[in-house]
Amino acid sequence: MTQELIDLFSDTVTRPTAAMREAIANAEVGDDMSGRDPTVNRLEALAMELFNKEAAVFACSGTQSNQMGVRSHCQPGDELLINETGHIANWEAGGPAILSGVSVRTLHNPRGDGMLDIDDLEGKIRADDQHLCRTRLLCIENTTNAGGGRAYPLEQIARVGEWAHSNGLKVHVDGARLFNATVARGYSPADVAMHVDTISVCFSKGLGCPMGSILVGSAEEIRSARRSRKLFGGALRQAGIVAAAAVYALQHHVERLADDHANAWFLAERLAEIDGITIDPDNVQTNLVFFDIDPRLGSSTQFATRTAENGVRLCPIGGAQRIRACTHLDVDREQIARAVEIIAECAASIPVGAVASTEGPY
Ligand SMILES: Cc1ncc(COP(=O)(O)O)c(C=O)c1O
Repeated sequence: MTQELIDLFSDTVTRPTAAMREAIANAEVGDDMSGRDPTVNRLEALAMELFNKEAAVFACSGTQSNQMGVRSHCQPGDELLINETGHIANWEAGGPAILSGVSVRTLHNPRGDGMLDIDDLEGKIRADDQHLCRTRLLCIENTTNAGGGRAYPLEQIARVGEWAHSNGLKVHVDGARLFNATVARGYSPADVAMHVDTISVCFSKGLGCPMGSILVGSAEEIRSARRSRKLFGGALRQAGIVAAAAVYALQHHVERLADDHANAWFLAERLAEIDGITIDPDNVQTNLVFFDIDPRLGSSTQFATRTAENGVRLCPIGGAQRIRACTHLDVDREQIARAVEIIAECAASIPVGAVASTEGPY
């Protein structure tokens, strides 16, 4: 009998539901590159309304919409500020430098939550001097991915946004998991948007779509972003096929993110009971669960290989002993409970004194 794989690697593994596939099959489509795809237009209008922004543009991926956002604010030679764990800084193939000629200045935050506050930013804007690049943009991530799935408090977004604007910076939010933040914190997308300039959101993570992202901002920023989308090879034709999934997800998959968060809590609390695993469940705010394994269980890669062989896929990331588990649409409470049993069995079956590896960080 083949064992079912419980895939907690990422929320990117979600597959479209039958109802979403039906919405895809029935999508009205047209040539989006000339603004004539009714489903893309509907999605963009929906996003403008949700975020209360002047304009929105559909993009292929979160990476693409982040890079369109960066380019809409910056010119070659400019610099952006971001937490050192930020996706834009670490996981987008050097996009700001390659696609926009922008340098990335990563900032340390001793709290380790992947966020930025005024104390982290104060003194980081470069003087107007011919020798220096121009500090132009602040990027924040909500929720933070490598920062632990934390959702910004609204007051912090307001504080940081005001600080950035009063210092002449634009603010871009990498909101790949923005709806996890709105559901966890109880604020609306428009509550966030009023304090920042552009926001990118992914449809292919917790919202369960096969692909797609959206960037919202001012009419001018989005006009510029549309040009970049074309330049980056991301302007599509009958994109309504995928935009239909995103419309469906906005209508049906946002509120249910609370189930993923409850499952993440359940998982964290059970993991905390396993010998050799260290986790503080109070740090789990959304659907990302980070934990550390004792070196006697091997490296995070070795341990994740062992759990995968036994039916649970985990993501070794963020350090030699650090692992991320992600709850999502395609795993229910029962599967999470089974995953905990498998992880506990794997931890218990490793001989005491096994040699630790120093691989990583990932
Ligand atoms: C915080 C964050 N931003 C952006 C992205 C980019 O999304 P994609 O890889 O789909 O382009 C991801 C993907 O994991 C992410 O976690």
